[in-house]
Amino acid sequence: MCSGQCNPFFGTFVHSTPRAAVEILQNCVLGVDDKGKIAFIEKHQDVVSLSEIWGFETSDIRQLGQYEFLMPGMVDTHIHASQYSYAGTALDLPLLEWLNTYTFPVEAKYKDLDFANDVYTKVVRRTLKNGTTTACYFATIHTDASLLLGELADRFGQRALVGKVCMDYNSYPNVKPVVTPRFAPSCSSSLLSELGEIANNNKLHVQSHISENKEEVELVKTLFPGCKSYTDVYLKHNLLTDRTVMAHGCHLTDEELEIFRETGSAVSHCPNSNISICSGMLNVRNVLNHNVKLGLGTDVAGGYSPSMLDAMRRTLDTSKALTIQDPQHKTLSFEEVFRLATLGGSEALSLDDQIGNFVVGKDFDALRVNVCVPDGPIDLFPGEGPKVRQSSYWSFLPSY
Ligand code: GUN
Ligand code: FE
Repeated sequence: MCSGQCNPFFGTFVHSTPRAAVEILQNCVLGVDDKGKIAFIEKHQDVVSLSEIWGFETSDIRQLGQYEFLMPGMVDTHIHASQYSYAGTALDLPLLEWLNTYTFPVEAKYKDLDFANDVYTKVVRRTLKNGTTTACYFATIHTDASLLLGELADRFGQRALVGKVCMDYNSYPNVKPVVTPRFAPSCSSSLLSELGEIANNNKLHVQSHISENKEEVELVKTLFPGCKSYTDVYLKHNLLTDRTVMAHGCHLTDEELEIFRETGSAVSHCPNSNISICSGMLNVRNVLNHNVKLGLGTDVAGGYSPSMLDAMRRTLDTSKALTIQDPQHKTLSFEEVFRLATLGGSEALSLDDQIGNFVVGKDFDALRVNVCVPDGPIDLFPGEGPKVRQSSYWSFLPSY
């Protein structure tokens, strides 16, 4: 029985489970309780008895159309909200020059709250429009503007982790602070230690960048000569926890991935950015084989697209490029990439007890997808259903 009002949906549900990269549930009824949690998900046999068991009126059922389905909201595990204003430009320099030339001057503008309000409103709305219901954001060093980003995510209904270094506030249920050392080259050892302490004492999430390009890895070696590796820098400063997500990791060694697994830290794979600013190609298969948690990120504006669907496509591209280089490489399937964009992302952000797939007790965090809207971006052909030519569903969904 649902406690209070129960909202039932009837139709097709597509999600991932630990066993199945894509599970398609047809003719099912999913009930959402008055707290927005999934109360039940059952194969539809007899709606009348289901309505009696779960306490809803059959007239309350929201029936999905023949060409519609629900899927979990997508999780962007790494996006710089503050860089959205120049997404799609300034991709002609490698990381360290790119930061100095383009990024730092733009981020300095966030002391102006009007500027922040304009960009942050647009990035939250745009990512929601692209199906990102959860985002792990980098803001800037400005406290007021970072708080504003949290307020806007809350207002527009996006779950978010918002990172302003040393931030520690907790006023929205779906918006949380994330301790955010930018990356090792821009933080002193004492700052990293203090952030590690804050994160551990307050059980906070941590996000940063790691091993994005080779020049940066070499720079970290010279800046932290006492550390065995880039990973060791964060490990020594107590920043690798089971609530940590590190972006990129293109050049992590197997030994470093082992440390990620042991500490429960996650990698955010940002393939658009990795190619756009020529950083490297992460071998996702190798990361997964090490049992390291992995989600996908857009990394706006190193990545030029705010769309998670783009992140999924670029993940496949990079995986295929690795197969071209080495035919022994086991290419990722689109089903696996769907899982990385949803369940994988929720695991990477340690939010998988709340979101990521359709499981009783989790929040009902879903996208309603209609592949047959008038003037839509794809054409359907006779005989196509959810299980026929599945790839057409994922390859051609629009991004805005
Ligand atoms: N490393 C440190 N800062 C940044 C940033 O803003 N973007 C990317 N892609 N890498 C970084
Ligand atoms: Fe980044």
